[in-house]
Amino acid sequence: MPLRHATLHQLKIFMALARHLNMTRAAEELHMTPAALSIQIKQLAGAVGAPLHEQIGKRLFLTAPGQLVDEACRDVFGRLERLSAELAGAQGLERGSLKLSIITTASYFAPYLLATFCKKHPGIEVALEVSNRDHILERLKQNLDDLYIMGQAPENVSVIAQPFMENPLVVLASADHPLAHERNIDPVQLASEPFIMREPGSGTRLAAERFFEKHGVRLKVRMTLGSNEAVKQSVAGGLGLAVLSRHTLSLDAASGAFALLDVRGFPLLRQWYAVYPMGKQLSAVTRAFLDYIATEGAAKVDAPILGSRVVA
Ligand code: PGA
Repeated sequence: MPLRHATLHQLKIFMALARHLNMTRAAEELHMTPAALSIQIKQLAGAVGAPLHEQIGKRLFLTAPGQLVDEACRDVFGRLERLSAELAGAQGLERGSLKLSIITTASYFAPYLLATFCKKHPGIEVALEVSNRDHILERLKQNLDDLYIMGQAPENVSVIAQPFMENPLVVLASADHPLAHERNIDPVQLASEPFIMREPGSGTRLAAERFFEKHGVRLKVRMTLGSNEAVKQSVAGGLGLAVLSRHTLSLDAASGAFALLDVRGFPLLRQWYAVYPMGKQLSAVTRAFLDYIATEGAAKVDAPILGSRVVA
């Protein structure tokens, strides 16, 4: 079967396989059975005239032709996405799509921003991926989305990073913690307190580690948890202190479960960045969203957070 008989559907399936290097996971992503996926890959390999992957032990690798096909797939789908962006641009913002990948903590405000943006432009279709920093960086390297929202621009990838809003990190304790009513706490005093940390790869964790390292404080880590909500529950239950973004408290305003400790150097002021790879052709929709968050984003998001009455 000559290559021109390969279908876009097969290329899409192959891209998923190349991304996961695992038949079952790729099939799951595409909501198909591994057997059906395998048939499509075999047909594509037939059209290419060479095997596209090989299984060594338990691991799956792309062959050299497989890697070439993977690159070509990205070219093809990148071009198709640009085409639909150009067409959407030609049609104004009435139609089009926005693929956004955001870091876990941004899920406390980004859906809210998206919702208000979509109300203004109801014809736009939005896809939102929420994940931790390592996974978002991987997606960025593979150029899978229009825009990425993260708390720190990557250092080893060429990107444009547009800061659009402050991200204050606070030290959180249970409301009845003995330090809750102390003022001007020296960071060194926290060395004896157990801490609940976010998982390695979290931007929040990285920033907290850097702060305490700079102040010569070695944190006593009692627990490492993979979600802001789990960390908050543990803090509320009195298991320890945590450094989290104040955005994570936006819905806990009236709960009275937490105290924000008055530690010198906090709130640790970071920024939220909208990031995209250098050289990326932005669609009209992406540009409009960037303008929207730069001009109105902070005001839209700040309101519920500033209204919070967490004990301090
Ligand atoms: P996180 O990222 O949710 O991975 O901690 C937030 C940030 O980078 O500040």
